[in-house]
Amino acid sequence: MNQSKIWDAYSKSYHNIEKNPAGFQFSLLNMLRVNEADEILDAGCAGGHLHQYILQQRKKDCRLTAFDFSLEMTKIAAARMIKYLNNPFNSQIEDISDQEIENVDLNSPLLEQNKYKVFQGDVQSLPQLNDNQFDIYISNLVLQLVANKDQALQEAFRVLKPGGKIGIVIPVVLGNVPMLSLQKCFIQAGLIPNAAYKPTELENREGLINFIYKHGFKEIVCWNQTIPFDLFDIDDNYIFPQFREILDKASKEQVDQFYSLYKSEVQNRLNLNLPFTVEALSLIAKKPL
Ligand SMILES: C[S@@+](CC[C@H](N)C(=O)[O-])C[C@H]1O[C@@H](n2cnc3c(N)ncnc32)[C@H](O)[C@@H]1O
Repeated sequence: MNQSKIWDAYSKSYHNIEKNPAGFQFSLLNMLRVNEADEILDAGCAGGHLHQYILQQRKKDCRLTAFDFSLEMTKIAAARMIKYLNNPFNSQIEDISDQEIENVDLNSPLLEQNKYKVFQGDVQSLPQLNDNQFDIYISNLVLQLVANKDQALQEAFRVLKPGGKIGIVIPVVLGNVPMLSLQKCFIQAGLIPNAAYKPTELENREGLINFIYKHGFKEIVCWNQTIPFDLFDIDDNYIFPQFREILDKASKEQVDQFYSLYKSEVQNRLNLNLPFTVEALSLIAKKPL
């Protein structure tokens, strides 16, 4: 399955857990001062779960543009925003039917009137967007998934105004407890080989800062953050897309073995009175004037 189809298939599960990574995104929005911007871009926005919040924080007449390379994700974002704009007190994703998502019009005039645009697009190539268009480019937990990270950064730099700010979050795999627990269970159930994970160059402060600096950004601020995930029982929503694909092709015996191991992992964590935690490196920087 190609990458965007994998995220299409995971889109419903993701909106059941999206509140967890929102912890990183809230910090980014605060650090970037979204309330001061005229044009904001959310790159790899998934189901747009913080878009209502950004609208509430934004300056009058600020425009929010968002995209994701999964069409299903963009449909969820648009359906949710339409529901919110029609009824701000009843816009929970649970209240939106599958049909509303399926039939949503990404170009609905209601979205345009409210200066909101969501489209299907790839961070590596954004011909839909102008040079020097945005005050803020935000991308939470996306860059680690992208094949050509240099190209993604070049596009981010291009679409930002001089003086505009980028904000990104990169997960630190060796500090991602749900991911490590899944990996362990997959290895023990014979579903994946036991190979030591080698962190990418972006998973340490120095590497990430150098990468952003290399692309012309200045005034870099980088911090480490750890957030809890509300994982208290075995829950399929936390079987991340790369694992889901393997599980779907496995034998029943291996699947049963996996679930039994996963159950113990969750119980072990609860026995330690600890939540499952995810660590990430966050960074904000400016395109020079
Ligand atoms: C872990 S989710 C993060 C979503 C969202 N930013 C958040 O904070 O919840 C990763 C998202 O990146 C999207 N994605 C992955 N590669 C992409 C690419 N090359 N261009 C655009 N979106 C991409 C996926 O479809 C998915 O919605």
